[in-house]
Amino acid sequence: MLGEKPNVAEMTPEEKRALAQRLLKERSARDADGEAPAGKLVPREIKLIPFDRMPAYLQLKQQLGYLNAYGITNPYFRQQEGINENRTIIEGRECINYSSSNYLGLAGHPQVAAAAKQAIDTYGTSVSASRIASGQIPLHAELEREIADMLGTEGSLVFPNGYGTNVTAIGHLFGPKDLIVHDAFVHRSMFTGCLLSGSRRRPFPHNDLDALDQLLTEQRRFNEQAVILVEGAYSMDGDIADLPRLIELKKRHQAMLMVDEAHSIGVLGEHGYGIVEHFGADPADIDILMGNLSKSFASLGGYIAGSAALVEYLRYTAPGFIFTVGLSPGDSAAALAAIRVMKAEPWRVTRLREASALFLKLARERGFNTGTSYLSPVIPIILGDSATAVLIGDQLFKGGINVQPIIYPAVENSAARLRFFITALHTDVEISQTIDTIAAHLEGLRVRPSGAAGVQ
Ligand SMILES: Cc1ncc(COP(=O)(O)O)c(C=O)c1O
Repeated sequence: MLGEKPNVAEMTPEEKRALAQRLLKERSARDADGEAPAGKLVPREIKLIPFDRMPAYLQLKQQLGYLNAYGITNPYFRQQEGINENRTIIEGRECINYSSSNYLGLAGHPQVAAAAKQAIDTYGTSVSASRIASGQIPLHAELEREIADMLGTEGSLVFPNGYGTNVTAIGHLFGPKDLIVHDAFVHRSMFTGCLLSGSRRRPFPHNDLDALDQLLTEQRRFNEQAVILVEGAYSMDGDIADLPRLIELKKRHQAMLMVDEAHSIGVLGEHGYGIVEHFGADPADIDILMGNLSKSFASLGGYIAGSAALVEYLRYTAPGFIFTVGLSPGDSAAALAAIRVMKAEPWRVTRLREASALFLKLARERGFNTGTSYLSPVIPIILGDSATAVLIGDQLFKGGINVQPIIYPAVENSAARLRFFITALHTDVEISQTIDTIAAHLEGLRVRPSGAAGVQ
């Protein structure tokens, strides 16, 4: 049977011979298919495959072709003609907008914009060097102090890209002797960092901490270091990590804990200081707090916060920090100003929470499947197949509501959805109008003869 391991010790000589023959036969079949057994290279026909004939490219063209065939406006790369907030202008039309992670509405805030302009006037548009060489400006240290104070950590380090922050930090801190156990739904950047590290990697089912406990019980002893990777709030499903239990597990198994706060910083906690504030945890219990500056903090870049030793080590050695130009003056100043505005205008965090709760409540009252979304401004409406998600997204767009469909292969086809990002600027009227409009479109789909709505 597939996957069943034969017990060779208990086999008769005939059975052993039959097994050897079967394995040889399977191996030669694999070779014929061009699949190399471990350590062996199989010669192929030598030919260059141009990009326009690459199988993956042809598949993409086919998928994009479906959109055209069904008269659906391409939902990707829609050009924003103004600030990407609760409302936006696309193709000259104003839309209610749910496609921006400008959670606190700070990307258009006059103080944030003024700080960026002033920094450009003082330091120019680029720091023009790696920070370790000659690209360090006072704003970098000021921003890093502000982040560390907000989080209650000994220090922080700012990187010029959020995605790259995860890749380089995970890829650099862990190696082949280590074990990385991660929630199955962590962001691609964390996953890529795992691959780069060369560590043993074991995913556990989303938010299933019993499974994590079992994994660590079985695997921890075979590795030098172990690290648990989770997100504070998950970017596709809008649910949050059980931080107290994660801390208990990491302590019991002598593992490190890394939390990606891209969708929880500026969101969770009374002041928006993230998941640590939300749970009243001790920041020293999280070994690596990662976040980005591109969502709540209206800028670009990412940070790692934690102990002084962690920060100093990365500052002198992380490839994605030292072999790249430092965060630009404008971006550094914008992020710094955004954190200060968040503190000075606490209504933004409160309003974000209220607006998200209202959207979730109204959606649930209509019977929409919002999955496990909870306490976060990421609210999916799961529609069950990619075609329906694209179709309803297109109808909403044509009616003045901009929301991104998330379809296979980003999620399973059965989990295809519209993903709504709520911001502090969305009004109650915009939210209830949106829910009513979605309900009307879904009703419209239901009354059609079966199959007519699909774009298979
Ligand atoms: C969970 C998570 N981590 C990291 C990133 C990467 O951050 P950035 O977009 O700032 O590069 C994202 C981006 O969407 C994210 O959702």
